[in-house]
Amino acid sequence: MKTSMVHLSKGGVGKTTISVLYAWYQRRLGKRVLFVDFDMQCDSTKKISRIAADIYPEYAATTIGTILDFADPSFPAKLAEFEPGPFDLFASVEDIKFGQAEGESVMTSVHALTVSNHYDIAIFDTTPALDEQAVALFQAVGNIIMPMRPDDSSFDQISIVLQLKSIADQNRTTPLNVAGIIINGMIVFRRASGAHLTR
Ligand SMILES: Nc1ncnc2c1ncn2[C@@H]1O[C@H](COP(=O)(O)OP(=O)(O)OP(=O)(O)O)[C@@H](O)[C@H]1O
Ligand SMILES: [Mg+2]
Repeated sequence: MKTSMVHLSKGGVGKTTISVLYAWYQRRLGKRVLFVDFDMQCDSTKKISRIAADIYPEYAATTIGTILDFADPSFPAKLAEFEPGPFDLFASVEDIKFGQAEGESVMTSVHALTVSNHYDIAIFDTTPALDEQAVALFQAVGNIIMPMRPDDSSFDQISIVLQLKSIADQNRTTPLNVAGIIINGMIVFRRASGAHLTR
């Protein structure tokens, strides 16, 4: 079971785009994919649903429900009833508070789904903020993928994420694996602004 978070604490760098394409590619390879949408606006859920409906109806995503639905004491019973599909969506909602009782239960829920052999891979799209969800994921997932723009601010954020990884590694049995740093939108960026890499 492979678990990957797509994160950079910076908006608009392509987290959702890359998460969705990565998830979709894995599904096309025949992998069973759990996609966890931690974006409060549910951008990934919308994108996946649109692709599924427009292009590949045979792969239409199944929406498991919101994390909040599962973040309650009856969750194990709900999981037992749940019939996994080949491509399932697990969407976040507002007002989830990680690190509190229900937050711990959220991560337990995700963990149960990801380790239960329902899926070959779990992909987590995150918000640009270094919120409780992201911090929890630094402990919970095996891999991190960092999309970035070719600008100084993105480089600074990569440094910050790598520092957080070092801190998280102190409490992990195996280090968080940096699976990829993706410089996204370089051509678009340079055409749009004329800016260049400065370091
Ligand atoms: N390589 C690319 N080429 C052209 N457009 C792109 C590319 N990558 C992303 N975009 C566009 O840039 C916008 C931001 O991308 P996306 O939503 O994936 O970023 P994000 O990091 O998830 O943003 P947020 O931090 O708001 O969640 C979207 O409109 C997306 O379609
Ligand atoms: Mg996004």
